[in-house]
Amino acid sequence: MLRETPADVHGRNIAGGALLLLGIVGLLGYAKPPISLDPKWLVTIEIIFLFLGVSILYPPARQYLTPLVDLVITLLTGRRLPLRGPEGPGIDPPALNPKSGITALPRPQVDGGLGPQAAEVPRQPLAAVGGAAVAAEGRAPVAHAAAVPLNGEFHVPDWSVPTYSLDARFNIQCWNPAFEMVFGTVPTLLEGSHVSEWCQHLRNYDKILDRARRVFGNGIPLADVEDLEFASREFGLMNFTKLSSAVTKPGTMECVRWNVALNVNKVERSKEFEERLRRTLEDQVCWTAMAPVYDELLPKFGEYVRLADLHLSAARGCQSVLELGAGTGYLTSKLLNGNRRVCAVDFNDAMLERLRDNCGNRATLTVKKQDIRYLRGFMPGKFDAVLMMNVAFSVEDTQALFDRVATLLPKGGVLAFSVPREGSDLDTLFAALQRDLEDKKLWEGRYEQFQNLRQHNERMRTGNSLRTFTAEQLRHMLGKANFETIDETVAYAGQGLFVSARKG
Ligand SMILES: C[S@@+](CC[C@H](N)C(=O)[O-])C[C@H]1O[C@@H](n2cnc3c(N)ncnc32)[C@H](O)[C@@H]1O
Repeated sequence: MLRETPADVHGRNIAGGALLLLGIVGLLGYAKPPISLDPKWLVTIEIIFLFLGVSILYPPARQYLTPLVDLVITLLTGRRLPLRGPEGPGIDPPALNPKSGITALPRPQVDGGLGPQAAEVPRQPLAAVGGAAVAAEGRAPVAHAAAVPLNGEFHVPDWSVPTYSLDARFNIQCWNPAFEMVFGTVPTLLEGSHVSEWCQHLRNYDKILDRARRVFGNGIPLADVEDLEFASREFGLMNFTKLSSAVTKPGTMECVRWNVALNVNKVERSKEFEERLRRTLEDQVCWTAMAPVYDELLPKFGEYVRLADLHLSAARGCQSVLELGAGTGYLTSKLLNGNRRVCAVDFNDAMLERLRDNCGNRATLTVKKQDIRYLRGFMPGKFDAVLMMNVAFSVEDTQALFDRVATLLPKGGVLAFSVPREGSDLDTLFAALQRDLEDKKLWEGRYEQFQNLRQHNERMRTGNSLRTFTAEQLRHMLGKANFETIDETVAYAGQGLFVSARKG
């Protein structure tokens, strides 16, 4: 670096002093401005003079340029920007109001009757529930290990503790099923969105903001612990201890990402919470286990291929397709071959990993990990068709699913899906699968996979998560969701119903 000569220092002092003086004189004249200009422009110009003066006289002050630029933009446009610490990354954004100073964003409405006392949720049993999912790999659900590298990308594994991961600029990158289960109803929970978008839906948001300004305002800590409160529609008032730790570039203190775990301290409706968490984890374990079996067996099953063809023909002429519960991507790859833009959604990492492998890296494919009960972040009317092959059975509130799907389609948009038919039985379906594999000389060596798939289906049926439907029930629900031109066909070895409809 070039060293400054005494003459340089002298020149710098004169320039800085002059600018500072201009800023101060300007501020003094603020009450009676010599020129008529909108006050917010006057303040902005003053801030620029003052900052230039100070940063010329005292160069380290330049690190505050980014937050200052944010402040100026907010002053001029009224747009809320993340408040940044001197090192850059954004933290919870206050809505900066030029007149009244800093004010909090309006709190979103949350429904659900929240009583005053929340029941204690013992931590041990929760960890034990999660243990089933993680013990095999011997990892504990601690904050620092929340995101693990997998195929060159970071994933949040299926811990029982709600866990998420942020990039260095505090944008949410991924979260685990327990987090999705608790916060899935928050519409601003989106990949790539600033964490403050989600924070706004927390009950103690004002406190979080105040604290963030104090703790993060003058430099970024390497770890952070704080209390969070959330008013959940399903589980009532919830209280967490947030444990976040920075992940640094090896050999440096440069923060490249954040891992955050939410220890669950109190839940108002704790029994519902525990039961839902247990089911969520169990479902994920099963879908994870089944991913290779689906991939290996079903594309060889003629009835399955014919069912996929029915979905494909329903999407004929559609350029942009949303596929929900896309699994390992058999239908997805067929849709992509037809030169369509496809957005494939599934909530299971193992399924999505296979989907990515099976479909390859294509510009026309978007993959989203999300629970289809919430469907956040999709633009209304953006897709020509929504397809749900063998997945709607797993969603408790089918009407709500159809209602939500309807909002994503334009008038005339196509919905096509398949579900188990009322009175259907697994024996017939699996007998057809076995016969087909035998006829194709593919049965040998596949007995174990076949049995595993069958057990998985039986488990879902006895757990009431393999819902069956009559054509009348489906017509009724679709009509309520504003679908018309409804057609149904018996399919899948006579055990399923394939339905197509158009948005009215
Ligand atoms: C029976 S498989 C069908 C997969 C694919 N549609 C096919 O036919 O090959 C159901 C898929 O839906 C996914 N799934 C189940 N419930 C879901 C939910 N609530 N949200 C997102 N995905 C879900 C599972 O992970 C699984 O991949």
